[in-house]
Amino acid sequence: MKKNIKDINVKNKLVFLRVDFNVPLDDKQNITDDTRIIKSLETINYLIENKAKIVIASHLGRPKGEVKKEFSLEPVSKRLSELLKRDVRFVGKTTGKDVEDVKKNLKPGDILLLENLRFNPQETKDGEEYAKELAKGIEVYVNDAFGACHRKHASIHKITDFIEQKVSGFLLEKEIEFLTMATEYPPKNYTVILGGAKVADKIPIIENLLNKAKNILIGGAMAYTFMKAKGIDVGGSRVEEDSIDLCKKIMNDADKKGVEIHLPVDHIAAIKIEPNITVRIISQEITIPTDMMGLDIGPSTIDEYRHVIENSELIVWNGPMGVFEIDTFSSGTIEIARAIANSNAISIIGGGDSVAAINKAGVSEKITHISTGGGASLEFLSGKNLPGIDVLEEK
Ligand code: 3PG
Repeated sequence: MKKNIKDINVKNKLVFLRVDFNVPLDDKQNITDDTRIIKSLETINYLIENKAKIVIASHLGRPKGEVKKEFSLEPVSKRLSELLKRDVRFVGKTTGKDVEDVKKNLKPGDILLLENLRFNPQETKDGEEYAKELAKGIEVYVNDAFGACHRKHASIHKITDFIEQKVSGFLLEKEIEFLTMATEYPPKNYTVILGGAKVADKIPIIENLLNKAKNILIGGAMAYTFMKAKGIDVGGSRVEEDSIDLCKKIMNDADKKGVEIHLPVDHIAAIKIEPNITVRIISQEITIPTDMMGLDIGPSTIDEYRHVIENSELIVWNGPMGVFEIDTFSSGTIEIARAIANSNAISIIGGGDSVAAINKAGVSEKITHISTGGGASLEFLSGKNLPGIDVLEEK
């Protein structure tokens, strides 16, 4: 177990809190989804109540080492201040004299939010000099930025060389707890649901969880590569030819281990991905025509998957079942979201699209754990070590 902030004394200490405030902004710099800010409030409030002097740092977007106003964290400082109902200092820099002056004058409970870390090219290069600058005067490092823990970046990784105490925040701790259950000690009736466009992105998860899962339900465009690997005619559906052999191997391995890989048995197909296009339900008895592609799972597949979901104790879901952003192709994803929410299983959802689907279905309250990390949760589920987690102290 990693140490967390409750394991140490933060009173009067200058704390560097790395969060993931990589929130979406519209073209007027309004935050369109503040979930990630809200999820970090528990740790921030704990630090305030326990009289730490708080320096908060994050990245936002990918400004590629340049100062770009549209990636500024200033709108986030305002939102954070509203949510906390207290002042949040913002100096528009991450290092240098102005920052050091504010740091020195912080009183217990005060908050300074630094500017976007990625305005400095050294951040994404895990730069030692930049890490040293960020760590100046800092006594405690708290990582609550699960979404960025797969990045070997200066504020996630190198900085910990220069700070003695380094612990996780409450959000990171919760993410580690649930994802460890999914990768290390799942219950017997464990179902993994994978979807999305690219099969190559999800193969490492399947490989890692083949020894743990009982059922793997596959949907989305990635299903068609598996179907082709099985010798099923998929018409004009999207197939990743490069991954066919790997899909064959995975299905063989699954057979040997007694893991059931479920593929769609029927489909919603169309000739184009367009909102008002005519669709055809391709039932089990027929194949998808060559001028059409499968764009969502069909009603029989939904029934079969729902049945598996109802009998599960733990469900991990990553990736939509179809092109759910277009209503015509969203019912598979929405129905799976509802089935998960209505089940008695512990449910863990990761990846931006699945989280959006859960919100669209209006069932987010019924999900046990919604991960704040996209790439980070994929890597965790794939069994990879995350640099940001590896560098934290053990209890
Ligand atoms: C995310 O949104 O997944 C994290 O904030 C990481 O962002 P990145 O992919 O730009 O490193």
